Amino acid sequence: MTEKSATPVSAGHLLTVSDLTVRFRSHGEAVYAVNGVSFDLDAGETLGVAGESGCGKSVTNLAILGLLPQPAGRVEAGSVQLSGRELTTLREEELRKVRGSEIAMIFQDPMTSLNPVLRIEEQLIETIRAHRDVTVQAARERAIELLVAVGVANPESRLRSYPHEFSGGMRQRVMIAMALALEPRILIADEPTTALDVTIQAQVLDLLRRLTAERGTATILVTHDLGVLAGMADRINVMYAGKVIESGTTEELFAHPRHPYTVGLLRSIPRLDGEAGGKLVPIEGRPPDLVAEPVGCSFYARCAWRQERCALEAPALVQIDGGTQPIVTTGAGATHVAACFNPVAQAEVAEGRPAAGRR
Ligand SMILES: Nc1ncnc2c1ncn2[C@@H]1O[C@H](COP(=O)(O)OP(=O)(O)OP(=O)(O)O)[C@@H](O)[C@H]1O
Ligand SMILES: [Mg+2]
Repeated sequence: MTEKSATPVSAGHLLTVSDLTVRFRSHGEAVYAVNGVSFDLDAGETLGVAGESGCGKSVTNLAILGLLPQPAGRVEAGSVQLSGRELTTLREEELRKVRGSEIAMIFQDPMTSLNPVLRIEEQLIETIRAHRDVTVQAARERAIELLVAVGVANPESRLRSYPHEFSGGMRQRVMIAMALALEPRILIADEPTTALDVTIQAQVLDLLRRLTAERGTATILVTHDLGVLAGMADRINVMYAGKVIESGTTEELFAHPRHPYTVGLLRSIPRLDGEAGGKLVPIEGRPPDLVAEPVGCSFYARCAWRQERCALEAPALVQIDGGTQPIVTTGAGATHVAACFNPVAQAEVAEGRPAAGRR
């Protein structure tokens, strides 16, 4: 019986992030890194997070895991609930139990989570035994199973290797094995393939997709690359300047983007269907640096759809329709929302600017 039919629908989500606000403070200066981020995540779901460098993708995840650099980084407001349990106020000792066994993270650079001076065997066994009461032998068998699951050939002899003896792609697989060792309910993959070449990238993404589908793991997949998310994510949060500025099902977001920034991002990636005429257009300008408290819409300076009002008032994230289609709701929280006073019309998407007479 599947989980969906076995359990009555409960109001609670696996993970609920509400109004999460993170600041960095040092020498009297503040960085407004995350400014009121809210989203839900359910079991078996893959949530993609996209946005340019510095928009708060990693800081959001570090805040969820209680791993903000100390003492500069702080959750100043908002909450993170894992099955209804508040994480932002947990003591470090409690958080350590949550990390790994309930929420695991895969980083961009495997060397940040692999210890270079320990054999893979020691690291995997240590991870397993730190959280589970099992013998070394049982942990070792589990380690072998995990390496097989992530496609490492000759796992028995590979266990004896050190991280530097693996290629980049293989190290990434080992890191995924480490993250999956305790069967976490949530996997956060922050740019898991950025450092890899394209073929290996595809293999690792494939592996992630298969493993999360088999285990019903909920995944947060962060990448600046919307193209990667097209084949992986059920829903996408587009972030800009520390906020989610548009969110919807992957299908809906690609077909009917409404926020000017999302439209810009989509125009700046290669078309997946390889259709001709797809000239890549980078978004002009740069995201604001986050040292000043945001006033108005953060995308104002770069936006072709901007109106006077946008400079003064920050648009709230509100439900929006697809422009030509009715609102799409295909699951918990999967409605289409955007934070824009002057959303892009369907006919304007291809041009990347407002139709004449609309400005
Ligand atoms: N330790 C820190 N101290 C001060 N500011 C920080 C710190 N870490 C991150 N920031 C700032 O927080 C903001 C969000 O950074 P974050 O790392 O979340 O961006 P990102 O979306 O993950 O970018 P990228 O795609 O480059 O990984 C940025 O303005 C960044 O400069
Ligand atoms: Mg990052």
